[in-house]
Amino acid sequence: MSKVSVATIASHSALQILMGAKQEGFETVLICLRDRVSVYKRFSHLIDHFIIINNYNDIMRSNVQKTLLDLNSIIIPHGSFIEYVGINNIYDLEPPVFGNRKLLEWESDQFKKLALLRDAGIPVPRTYSVNEDIDRLVIVKLPGAKGGRGYFLARDREELLSKASYLEIDLNNVLIQEYVIGAPMYFHYFYSLVLDRLELLGSDLRYESNVDGLKRIPFRIADPTFTVVGNIPIVLRESLLSKVFDYGERFVKLSKKRIPPGVIGPFCLEAICTSDLDIIVFEFSGRIVAGTNLYMMGSPYSWLYFSEPMSMGRRIAREIKLAIENNMLSKITS
Ligand SMILES: Nc1ncnc2c1ncn2[C@@H]1O[C@H](COP(=O)(O)OP(=O)(O)O)[C@@H](O)[C@H]1O
Ligand SMILES: [Mg+2]
Repeated sequence: MSKVSVATIASHSALQILMGAKQEGFETVLICLRDRVSVYKRFSHLIDHFIIINNYNDIMRSNVQKTLLDLNSIIIPHGSFIEYVGINNIYDLEPPVFGNRKLLEWESDQFKKLALLRDAGIPVPRTYSVNEDIDRLVIVKLPGAKGGRGYFLARDREELLSKASYLEIDLNNVLIQEYVIGAPMYFHYFYSLVLDRLELLGSDLRYESNVDGLKRIPFRIADPTFTVVGNIPIVLRESLLSKVFDYGERFVKLSKKRIPPGVIGPFCLEAICTSDLDIIVFEFSGRIVAGTNLYMMGSPYSWLYFSEPMSMGRRIAREIKLAIENNMLSKITS
């Protein structure tokens, strides 16, 4: 087989993915919007081939696909992947994609996403239908929202209806979810198909504006909003690990059954930890999350598995390398 290269799209966690691929000895390919080239050129030592595009639709053009195929590329999907490629094009992308494309499709539907968690036996927040009475604080999630933008809170039905009307939101299309009071925590897992091992490689919390800024002011002067602006590292209280591993294992197991071959590589459970130390998971990501950018040199957890710096990006490349050595490449891509 000719040499495999690692390709990704210039956004989200691309630098980490490229660096990890280089550390593992792969050639790298970056699909990059023209107006972002100047940023990524600053890291040209990490990038062997640029594929420059004028807009997102260009990704599906035959010349782009052909270049990727000629370079024997494996595409690494990340948080901006669906946004760039488009959910309708996901199966038309010709080069192999690391992991399970079906899981990415699943991830784009808020309702299917929650059902998978619930069916796995992972505690999730309560969901309300549009006609139900609201008996506690709820968060209203718009479809296709990115990075928490546009979400709002309501304390009762009256507030829900008046805010929806003011914001011109059709409540039939939104997810109305119990707002769990506690500390947000995001767990970064890697499921290795080659080693048949679930690894916890880190955890973080998202720094969100202005919900995280509100604690700086002495009284309530604004409604909380949830636009992600950055990430903060967390090391977990060690006694939480049993739940964290249990939920991760449950997710791997059910995803294999429901969305065969299941999750492959990175995924993230996003949760709130309450003062009773319950961990309530409000969503998952079926691919690398931006919070892993904190750990380009490894996290306190990755060092428990690997005696070398192991970012999530590098872990992906390591899995590709292991799969090539074990003749399993077709099993870890889709
Ligand atoms: N059920 C919940 N209880 C408390 N906070 C929540 C809940 N759901 C979401 N949030 C807050 O809203 C943010 C964005 O929600 P999320 O569902 O992760 O949307 P996105 O798809 O934009 O990542 C979270 O990071 C968290 O701060
Ligand atoms: Mg989220």
